[in-house]
Amino acid sequence: TIVPVILSGGSGTRLWPMSRASFPKQLWPLLSAQSLLQETAVRAKTVTLSAPIVVCNEEHRFLIAEQLREAGIDSPKILLEPIGRNSAPAIAAAALIVAQTDPSAVLWLMAADAAITKPEALGEAMQAAVAGAEAGKVVTFGMKPTRPETGYGYIEVGATVPGVAGVCAVKAFREKPDAQQAEDFLKTGGYLWNSGMFVFRADTLIREMEEHAPDVIESVRAAVTARKSDLFFERLGSEEFRKVPDISIDYAVAERSHNVVVVPVDLGWSDVGSWDALWDISAKDGEGNVEVGDVLIEDCHNSYVRSEKYLTAVAGLDDVVVVTTDDAVLVTHRDRAQDVKKVVERLKAHK
Ligand code: GDD
Ligand code: MG
Repeated sequence: TIVPVILSGGSGTRLWPMSRASFPKQLWPLLSAQSLLQETAVRAKTVTLSAPIVVCNEEHRFLIAEQLREAGIDSPKILLEPIGRNSAPAIAAAALIVAQTDPSAVLWLMAADAAITKPEALGEAMQAAVAGAEAGKVVTFGMKPTRPETGYGYIEVGATVPGVAGVCAVKAFREKPDAQQAEDFLKTGGYLWNSGMFVFRADTLIREMEEHAPDVIESVRAAVTARKSDLFFERLGSEEFRKVPDISIDYAVAERSHNVVVVPVDLGWSDVGSWDALWDISAKDGEGNVEVGDVLIEDCHNSYVRSEKYLTAVAGLDDVVVVTTDDAVLVTHRDRAQDVKKVVERLKAHK
């Protein structure tokens, strides 16, 4: 069996004012009638036919349970963290719990907030990944980089692994390089972006963490032992989990392990990190505009205009993002979509 593990802990600040700490981007229907979390869960079910484990913050439990029910996801395991400690502890908790009943189970780690526009490529890629995982590897998926993005992990691809079709060795994994390094990687070639999806056996991940991040796995183990379950949720031990170090799976395992391999694949993947990224992957009209909700556009081009409540009219502008909700309005240039993060930082400072 393959057990999908969906991480839904991020807050997606660059998609403000839709994405908020109390209602983060993965819970919004940004690309279709379903939220990104729902799309992810349905995709996981289509490929694996098994119930997912969703790891998320205590605060979002009802929203997430309701969205999964609505999407027809039967008996998910919803694992609650008292606070976010980044992705390594979240996946460690899932691996330890699965290993209690089946240490050799294959886990498919997915981000709740990524879009895949070519899901038909997923079947074959997963087959390769599962073969790699069963051979005891930590499997990543590599996407062709298109710009020197500094917010991603870069995978230096090696030779194909003999006997495991579609899987390549990894010479080095470099999480979030600086701008100069990222440019060098693109110039040199031979690097792929890490998609943030991983496939591995539960016992492989535990062993890798025991070797490369022992403080993480030991402290998470204590929180798993102290966990409490009710009919709908499993809660990690709160006191114990607060002592867990804050670190991502990329720094804790992918960069340090020599056991990482990659499946190069084109999934039409995007991490939907900003309004510009969302414009890029959304369906556009003849003028290159994306219009969502009660919106009126006059002589605009290549713009993203979205209204959650009020009629929103935009005239005579190109390359802009205009998003209105019931309590906030965002107007920015598409090229400056990253700066929304700075707006949110200022908002937080003013609170
Ligand atoms: N449950 C839980 N708890 N989930 C979390 C937490 C947490 O504390 N922190 C992050 N996550 C989830 C996020 O919701 C997201 O689904 C996933 O883990 C990845 O976290 P991000 O914070 O979005 O990571 P990133 O974008 O900086 O980097 C990762 O993704 C890139 C691709 O989007 C890395 O894996 C990079 O190497 C990769 O290129
Ligand atoms: Mg991300």
